[in-house]
Amino acid sequence: MNFQFPKNFYWGSATSAHQVEGGNHNDWSEWEKENAKRLAREAEGRFGYLSNWTKIKIEAQNPQNYISGRACDHYNRYEEDFDIVKSLGHNAHRFSIEWSRIEPEEGKFNEKEIEHYRNVIKALRARGIEPFVTLWHWTQPIWIADIGGWENKKTIDHFLRYIEKIVGELKENVKFWIVLNEPNIYTGFGFVKGSHPPGRRNIFKALKVYLNLLKTQKRSYEIIHKIDQDVEVGIANSFMHFEEKNNFFLNKSIKNIVNYFWNFWFLNKIGKELDFIGCNYYSRQLVGIIGKKVGLGEVSDLGWEIFPRGIYLVIKKLKKYKKPIYITESGIADANDEKRAKFIKDHLFWVGMAIKEGSDVRGYFHWSLLDNFEFPEARGFWPRFGLVEINYETMERKIRSSAWEYKKIIDGKDLL
Ligand code: BGC
Repeated sequence: MNFQFPKNFYWGSATSAHQVEGGNHNDWSEWEKENAKRLAREAEGRFGYLSNWTKIKIEAQNPQNYISGRACDHYNRYEEDFDIVKSLGHNAHRFSIEWSRIEPEEGKFNEKEIEHYRNVIKALRARGIEPFVTLWHWTQPIWIADIGGWENKKTIDHFLRYIEKIVGELKENVKFWIVLNEPNIYTGFGFVKGSHPPGRRNIFKALKVYLNLLKTQKRSYEIIHKIDQDVEVGIANSFMHFEEKNNFFLNKSIKNIVNYFWNFWFLNKIGKELDFIGCNYYSRQLVGIIGKKVGLGEVSDLGWEIFPRGIYLVIKKLKKYKKPIYITESGIADANDEKRAKFIKDHLFWVGMAIKEGSDVRGYFHWSLLDNFEFPEARGFWPRFGLVEINYETMERKIRSSAWEYKKIIDGKDLL
């Protein structure tokens, strides 16, 4: 394809606080302690079907795999990590702020921790890297969990007070705020499937939580813009490309319903109170009933199908919102780094195609900068998503070769 990305395109990678910082004390760290042994026992049932099971078995059956602990110690090593970001040619970086650090007790803000994030942002700016700051990537302070978390309406007001404080403190150096990360995944796994905290299986609670998160996203928009009119406020949502499992006559309708509720319902309800859409895209999902699935293509270490064209199909569907789009996550669990370089290149090819055809995509953040604690559905440390490999014994960082391949695209040397 004869195509060059726009000059001011944001190139980067993404992380989230609980997955990389280490030393967090929140509702997830508590849940991890209570569930680690069970998760280790259930590992074969959950991951035994994967072709790499014999390789991951020891890690996946070890309870420590399910305890975030010191994670990547990014809390103490962010300067070193941002040096890597810089060396990889990135001009933007997405990370999240940990609410439980900022407000460990109700209404009591921890100035030292606010200072920490101020320094994190300054460290990015000093390297010429634009911060994209997520305000909520699934974790809550313990006192919020104690009042029922997002099932309780009061959590909305508590959250708004937290963001008013933190946005006010950090506003000088931040232009892009992402309020919520993937309310659909959080609610689906936490309240329908029950596979991650708080581990409920109750559709009514799920609905309540989803609506509370929706109100939160909308009201946060007003609050942030009141503090600073010139910033951009968005969301990072999970988007999937759905296809019917086979051509059984009902499957098309099932697919359309799932597609609407997963991809568009929340966005439609947000309405105007959104400056940009953050798109997290990983894979294609086949849905429907009866009969065999059509064959999956190549898969990641987690068994997720690699389906690059899906990112294009999703972007095209987002065009109707007439908002700038940032790919706020896209990535692959690939411990041997055999598939990542091609994964990046192929996904960027399709992002490029969408831009060429008129979609307003302004950035791409690879998930993830570092190998990290893969907390969705409590998968733990064994899935390796990083451009940078972490040795969890020594905390040594090692840049994977795919990260250099990504840099070539950023530098425009490997044109699509
Ligand atoms: C989440 C990340 C996660 C990634 C890979 C997204 O759903 O935002 O926290 O690590 O997917 O599973």
